[in-house]
Amino acid sequence: MKSINVKTSRPYEVIIERGGINKCGEYIRSITKSGRAAIVTDDIVGKLYGRTVLDSLEKNGFDCSMFTFPNGEQSKCLATFGEILDFLCESEITRSDIIIALGGGVVGDITGFAAASYLRGVDFVQIPTTLLAQIDSSVGGKTAIDIKGGKNLVGAFNQPSLVICDSDTLKTLTPEILSDGMAEAIKYGMIRDEKLFELIEAHNRDNIHEVMDEIVYTCIDIKRDVVENDEFDRGERMILNFGHTIGHALEGWHHYTDYTHGMGVAAGMCIITEKLASNELAERLKKCVKQYCLPVGTDIPMSELLPYCSKDKKRESGNLSYIICNTIGNAEIKKVTVGEFSRLMEG
Ligand code: GLY
Repeated sequence: MKSINVKTSRPYEVIIERGGINKCGEYIRSITKSGRAAIVTDDIVGKLYGRTVLDSLEKNGFDCSMFTFPNGEQSKCLATFGEILDFLCESEITRSDIIIALGGGVVGDITGFAAASYLRGVDFVQIPTTLLAQIDSSVGGKTAIDIKGGKNLVGAFNQPSLVICDSDTLKTLTPEILSDGMAEAIKYGMIRDEKLFELIEAHNRDNIHEVMDEIVYTCIDIKRDVVENDEFDRGERMILNFGHTIGHALEGWHHYTDYTHGMGVAAGMCIITEKLASNELAERLKKCVKQYCLPVGTDIPMSELLPYCSKDKKRESGNLSYIICNTIGNAEIKKVTVGEFSRLMEG
C-alpha cells in the first residue's frame, strides 16, 4: 500500500493499493465515527463493485444505502443531482455521516457537488474506478455538474476526506476508457516529469498494466503538488489544462458524445505542440500518443474549433490561457487575447 497526503485547506490521504477496494470499510472507518454511509454509483460500476463496497462498509459497522444512476456524461445534470439530494434525504443522512462516490469522473464530480450542497456540506470519500478519475478528477476537490450552457459550469471546490485508488479496478476498463486516462497520464509527463513520460513511451496500451501502480502514484503526486500550491485554480493549477483548450473545443464540437475527454486532450496536446514547439518534440509526443490509440490531430478546420475555444469557461474577459511545453517536464502558462490565440492556431 502506498499513500499520499494532500495538504489542502482540508488535508486528506490518497491510498493507492491493489485490492484496496475490498478494505474500503476499514479505511473509511478510520476517518469517521459516522453510523450511516450513502453510496452513489452508476449502473456499470455498481454491478462490478457495489456489493464489495457494501459488504466492507457493513462489516465495519456502517448502515448503508446505495443510489445508482445510468453511466455516462448525460447523467451529470441537474436532474440526477436532484435525485441524489432526494436519496440523501430519504437515507436520513446527517452532517456527521459519510457519502461515498464509487465510480469514474462523472460519479465523483456529481457526488462531490451533492456532498458540498446537502446540509451545506457532508464529508465524502472518493473511490475512483477509472484511470482518469484516479489520476485526475478524484484528487484536488473540483466537483461539478453540466448545464445547457456547458460542461462543469456549476460546482464547488470540495476536497474529499479520503481517496481510495485500487489499480485492480482498472483491469475491467475497456481499452477506450483506459486510453482516455492515459491521455492525462501523458499530460502529467509533459508538464512535469520527463521520467514519467519515458516510462509511458516505453509501454503501450497492451502492457501498461505492468507499471500501472507507478503511473498512478506518480501522476497523483504531481497533481498533489500542483493543487497544494494553487488549490483554488488562480494560477499554477492551470498547467493541468495542457491540451485542454483545443481538447474542450473538440469535445464541444462533437457535442460530448462519441469523442472522449482523453481524445480531446491527446489531440489538443499534439496540435498545440506542433504549432508552437519544436518538430522533434511534436513527433515524440505524437508517437507516444499513438501507442495508446489516441488521436494526434483533427481534420476539423481550426476556424470551426476556435469558437468553442473562446467559449471555454476559463477565458477571462476577452483573454484565454493556454499551456505550452517547449521541453518535456516544463509547462508555461500563456495568457493571450482570443484574437491572438486564433492567429497562433491558424498560422
Ligand atoms: N482537472 C484539472 C484540475 O483539477 O484542475
